[in-house]
This record gives sequence, C-alpha cells and structure tokens, in this order.
Amino acid sequence: MRILLTGGTGYIGSHTAITLSSAGHEVVLLDNLCNSQIDVVARIEKILGKKIVFYQADVRDTDALIAILQTEKIDAVIHLAGLKAVGESWQKPIDYYACNVGGSISLASAMKVAGVRILVFSSSATVYGDPKYLPYDEEHPTSPTNPYGRNKLQVEQLLHDLANSSDEWCITCLRYFNPVGAHESGLIGENPNGIPNNLMPVVAQVATGRLPLLNIYGNDYETIDGTGMRDYIHVMDLAEGHLTAIEWIAKNNGCHYFNLGSGTSHSVLELVSEFEKASGKTIPRKVISRREGDLPNYYAQADKALRLLHWKTSRNLSDMCESTWRWEQQRLA
Ligand code: NAD
Ligand code: UD1
Repeated sequence: MRILLTGGTGYIGSHTAITLSSAGHEVVLLDNLCNSQIDVVARIEKILGKKIVFYQADVRDTDALIAILQTEKIDAVIHLAGLKAVGESWQKPIDYYACNVGGSISLASAMKVAGVRILVFSSSATVYGDPKYLPYDEEHPTSPTNPYGRNKLQVEQLLHDLANSSDEWCITCLRYFNPVGAHESGLIGENPNGIPNNLMPVVAQVATGRLPLLNIYGNDYETIDGTGMRDYIHVMDLAEGHLTAIEWIAKNNGCHYFNLGSGTSHSVLELVSEFEKASGKTIPRKVISRREGDLPNYYAQADKALRLLHWKTSRNLSDMCESTWRWEQQRLA
C-alpha cells in the first residue's frame, strides 16, 4: 500500500515509517515540524537506503491534504500528528482541541473527498482514566481525566460515527501504553523539546549529565517497591503494531479499537536499575512527593491484538534501555 503518515517525522511516526517501508509499503510523510526536525527525513533515508517523500504541511489545511492524497495516490493513512503533552493541554486547551480534534476533522474530510477510506489513528491508554479494574481491556469504560485525553476520546467518537455513516470506512484506533526506546541504529529516537516530563527521557538525560538527578514521584504506592508502575512498550514493537493493524484493517471495515501494550508493568526503580545496567552509569535520584494526577499502576490486556492482528511485543525492558542509551549518546556526539 501507499501510506501517508501524518506526524511522520515525530517519534512514533519515524519508527513506523521504517517498519512499513521495510515490509514493502511505500510511505509518504507529512508534518508541520512543530515538534520534530527536518533532518529526521535524511536519517530515515539513511536507515532505509532509499529516498522518501516528505511534505511540510499542517493537518488543519484540508485543501493541502486533498491535493497530497490525490497526487500521491494514497491508499491508507496513519494519523499520528498532534500535540501530546498532558500538562500543556491544561494550559492551552484551545490549541489542543484545534490541533488534535480540528486536525482530525480536517483529515477525515480530506479523505472523504479524495476517496481514501483506510485509517489508523494514534490514540492513547489515557482514554480509560481511573481504572475500574486492571488490566484495561478495550471494553473498559472511557473517562479521560485531562484535556489531551478528552481530545483522543472525541476523535475516537468521531471516527466511530464516521464508520457508522458508511460501510466503506476501515478504521482502527490504537491505544498506546507507554512508548519508549529507539531504533537499533541509534539514528532516530525520542527528541523532546526542553526539559522532558516522561520517565525514560529524564533518566536518559540524567545518565548523560544533562540533568542533575531523577526526581521519583513518590515511593508510597501499593506497588512492588512503592514507586509507580507502567506498561512500557518498545517503539519498534509499537511500529510493528501499526504494520499489522493497517494490513488487517485494509481487509475489515468498521471502527475497531486495540490496546498496544505488553500486558505487564514495571516500576520506576526497575526501569532505573535496568538503565544503569545498559549505560554503565549511576542515576542519582531523590524521592519527592507524588505527581498530581498520577496513577499507581496500569497496564494493558493485550489479547485482542494478539488474537486478531497476531501481534505481541517481543522486546523487553533491557532492549528499551539499551536502545535509548545508544540514541542518547549518538545525538550528543
Ligand atoms: P511527536 O510529537 O514526536 O510526533 C507528533 C508529530 O506531529 C510531530 O512531528 C509534530 O511536529 C507533528 N504535528 C503536530 N501537530 C501537527 C499538525 N497540526 N499538522 C502536522 N503535523 C503536526 O509525538 P509522538 O510521541 O510521535 O506521538 C505521535 C502520536 O501518538 C500523537 O498523536 C500522540 O498523541 C500519540 N501518543 C503518543 C504517546 C507517547 O507517549 N509518545 C502515547 C500515546 C499516544
Ligand atoms: C504520561 C501521561 C500519559 C501519556 C504517557 C505517555 C501524565 C499524567 N500522563 O503518563 O497521558 O500517555 O505519559 O508515555 O502526564 N516518573 C518519575 N519521575 C519523573 C517522571 C516520571 O518518578 O521525572 C514516574 C511517574 O510518576 C510514573 C512513571 O514514572 O509513575 C511514568 O511516568 P511518565 O513517563 O510521565 O508516564 P505516565 O505518567 O504513565
């Protein structure tokens, strides 16, 4: 298939582009570069050993999208473009709704005009909200607790209604758990702007000395060691999840939801210890109070993706830490 990736130069988009292209699909990348750099295109080309097509455009520009979908003869779209910082979504709700919800309406409109009906949407486990039970399965009630999460749920609802409006639509919403890690080459990886908020990029920057120490947000949770636990998923496993999802949805209509997670969770201390092994560095740390809004523990029920997509994760926490470390060293070189 010829697949358009919106947000294609971003963290998950760039890794997904490599996996899709390596599996024989043709990829076209689109990004407005608000949270990624143009040199990612050359890095992807270096890994793949071939040229790829890139458009600098905004997903809210419906006319530009229609032109790209038609000119490039696109068969399917993976919609990753969006703003993703939970804290910022409280400060800038209009920007978040305009980009995440408005951008998705614009894309769906363009696809309708251009006759493209296959869509994979980047959603998030954050749509579930406070766990009524664990692991979260796809039937768990949705009740997001922040504007970013509400954006994701609203887009899922739009796509559900769109698929109901006509049998032609083939849509999957992928609910990612906690993506971490990098491509094994060390050429691409997560490149957060400013001081990162998420655990793995903070740990990586402490290891290189760019940040002085890791603040651990609480060690009094009811977990194996008192620290928060999450379902970390290697970004290359996630990329393979997109490949299986797009190949499956191309043959199935309707709107479908899949958790993409490993089905298990790790504590902050487990991740730090694994990162110390991978890097040979000591991570200075300090326990401070809990971060507002944090949950003690959550993880995916990943059986549906295994049953229907024949997908499951194959990389472990050590792979996640090693690849992150390789990328972190490479980008400082
Ligand atoms: P990212 O910021 O690295 O990538 C998103 C890309 O979209 C960036 O390159 C950015 O420049 C681009 N973009 C933003 N707004 C745009 C617009 N209006 N038009 C065109 N391009 C635009 O983030 P990521 O981690 O790769 O996330 C990709 C998707 O996955 C996002 O939708 C995010 O919400 C979702 N997601 C991410 C995580 C995570 O932890 N990384 C977890 C769950 C869901
Ligand atoms: C955050 C987002 C979530 C998003 C996910 C993407 C919030 C409230 N939630 O989730 O919507 O889908 O990122 O990966 O922002 N930790 C520390 N010190 C740090 C950073 C984190 O102790 O400096 C702990 C946290 O308390 C948590 C764990 O590490 O227990 C993971 O945190 P993080 O990487 O921010 O992910 P989430 O909180 O799951």
